Amino acid sequence: MLYSVNNQQSGCRHPSRILGRQLGTVMSSYKNEYRQSIEHPEIFWAEQAKRIPWFVSPQTILEYDDQGHARWFVDGEMNTCHAALDHHVESGRGEQAAILWDSPVTGAKRQLSYREMRDQVAMFAGALAELGVEKGDRVVIYMPMVPEALIAMYACARLGAVHSVVFGGFAPHELAVRIEDAEPRVVIAASCGVEVDRVIPYKPIVDEALRTSRHQPDATVILQRDQLHAELGEGDHEWQALVDAAKPVPCVPVKATDPLYILYTSGTTGKPKGVVRDNGGHAVALYYSMETIYDMAPDEVFFSASDVGWVVGHSYIVYGPLLRGCTTLVYEGKPVRTPNAGAFWRLIEEYRVKTFFTAPTAFRAIKKEDPDGQWLAKHDISSLKALFLAGERLDPPTFHWLEDLLSVPIVDHWWQTETGWPIVANLQGLEAMPIKAGSATVAVPGFDVQVLNRDGESAAANEQGSVVIREPMPPGCLAGIWRDPQRFHGAYMAAFPGYYLTGDGGYFDDEGYLFIMGRTDDVINIAGHRLSTGEMEEVLGAHPVVAECAVIGIHDALKGQVPVGLVIPKDSFSGDEVALEEELIALVRQKIGAIACFKQVLVVSRLPKTRSGKILRKLLRHIADGKEYGVPSTIDDPTSLEHVRDAMCARDVGQATDARQV
Ligand code: COA
Ligand code: AMP
Repeated sequence: MLYSVNNQQSGCRHPSRILGRQLGTVMSSYKNEYRQSIEHPEIFWAEQAKRIPWFVSPQTILEYDDQGHARWFVDGEMNTCHAALDHHVESGRGEQAAILWDSPVTGAKRQLSYREMRDQVAMFAGALAELGVEKGDRVVIYMPMVPEALIAMYACARLGAVHSVVFGGFAPHELAVRIEDAEPRVVIAASCGVEVDRVIPYKPIVDEALRTSRHQPDATVILQRDQLHAELGEGDHEWQALVDAAKPVPCVPVKATDPLYILYTSGTTGKPKGVVRDNGGHAVALYYSMETIYDMAPDEVFFSASDVGWVVGHSYIVYGPLLRGCTTLVYEGKPVRTPNAGAFWRLIEEYRVKTFFTAPTAFRAIKKEDPDGQWLAKHDISSLKALFLAGERLDPPTFHWLEDLLSVPIVDHWWQTETGWPIVANLQGLEAMPIKAGSATVAVPGFDVQVLNRDGESAAANEQGSVVIREPMPPGCLAGIWRDPQRFHGAYMAAFPGYYLTGDGGYFDDEGYLFIMGRTDDVINIAGHRLSTGEMEEVLGAHPVVAECAVIGIHDALKGQVPVGLVIPKDSFSGDEVALEEELIALVRQKIGAIACFKQVLVVSRLPKTRSGKILRKLLRHIADGKEYGVPSTIDDPTSLEHVRDAMCARDVGQATDARQV
């Protein structure tokens, strides 16, 4: 079916309400809107698409690729940079602040209006074009939380190039893996990142990554920061020198389905998955979410305390707020220690933040230092209307602490890199619902979320199963895995045909509230960051004396989960076990990065396995978390459980001393 999208911005705050009336229903509530989105997805998203500016309005709203995965607005043409910057300048928003930058780690603050942002992006895009970057080329960006990171991303979007931002906490090897996969024409980096207690030189990390990478870019661009000037070599260009010599360039029209970015995320193997996001569906979905989920109107200030290296940063620091005409606060600092546990409250007061979004772990860190909210009492946060949390489960103790402290809704919402925007939320801009601790509330319009049991049948209320999304997934979700359709199929589409597998387990309660209970694979969540235990196992397993190993995520009061490694050395090993453990810890830090928080590894002589040789990781997790555990009938050597438990107790791992065999 073909639906036309006019290139006119609807005057109505919520166009689907008009749609509802057209269909003879009264669209005043979440239920109606949700039903419309599921029963008539093409009509629903055709209406939403009118909210963003198109160069060519899409006529074909929904198509499926050969894997049965939805593709949206396939014949539409637009440019994400145009929709987020030029369009707003042209419609009178030029003098409004687009970016507020606050960097307690350097003592700097800066503000960029929409006009300044557009002009600087156009100039830097011109500089990239001079380096040969064209539509479809990839550009890897390795930068901390500075305005230039956003400028670089938008400059790529302006040219129709595909950016791939790599989080600054990743080590050279991780950067190299991403460079090899994305094959960028240009790599853009800053001279350094600034952590609480140290300046981290980025140029040596980039150099080391390029030394080991099979792919070499044509050029490297370095933003020199005052904290540390990098030495430049052949093929390196200074950001400012390039910009001084550049001419501004206009936005290049792209197809809605052309890629905007690749963002690598941890899967179950050592090779991260390059999640591909398109342009048109992404802009439509983010615009919708800014309004409907976050209740943001143009002019208002949105603060997401994440990093441009993560999906939260892409969607809700860089793109979402500006697509909607809001002001985004870019924060180079931590929740604590920069300089104290009042940092977030100070920012909310100073910039009149309306909606704030961070990970629960950030508040666990604040709670530890300021349990009674004494820092909060020093600030006027009356501008704040809602607090959103995601990245990991909002644990009920943190939820209740926040609920007691603040008088605004504390909204847990669930999503992932692949979807790019929330799957389940309490929609503050549509219909705020009663909040239940431990639940992210209800499916967002567009997402047909279901819980399936092992047989692929719908689970009953309160019965746990795999959380899946029935096709068509709404606009904004991943278009695929970069150059790897088979992996896309295997990881997401093969388990339950017709459904996308989220990798999370959970259940709906009697009222349709969804409770996410954790991953069903080897992905773990450390301080709201997604990492793969499989990848850490690959690093340990590559060490010459390691015969076998397992890495498990165990409960941590601050970070949610932390990894613990268990290794069996080869029979020939006669060295010092403590020295080996230290070496392995250093190896993971060197290969993956400090962000893996890999600080504990135990040398053991046996690991519990099934008779077919599969390591019983779930059982190991139960022991480390101090839970009751049974001896499965399939176990090869039951005494291995006692052995591992004793080793954990001796080294004070997690709550192993509380673990009881039943
Ligand atoms: N560049 C280089 N190194 C980095 C880095 C970066 N961008 N970010 C973190 N690191 C390093 C840290 O310095 C630390 O190194 P260390 O082992 O030498 O101390 C290590 O990586 C772990 O960092 P982190 O997880 O930030 O631990 P922390 O103890 O410094 O801080 C929290 C704890 C809870 C305050 C912090 O994890 C936090 O702010 N979490 C919120 C996460 C978040 O916003 N997630 C986004 C998803 S919504
Ligand atoms: P990432 O792709 O890094 O955003 O991580 C996504 C994963 O983090 C999800 O698949 C979940 O396992 C977890 N996650 C994110 N938000 C939540 C939430 N609100 N509740 C529970 N788990 C969450």
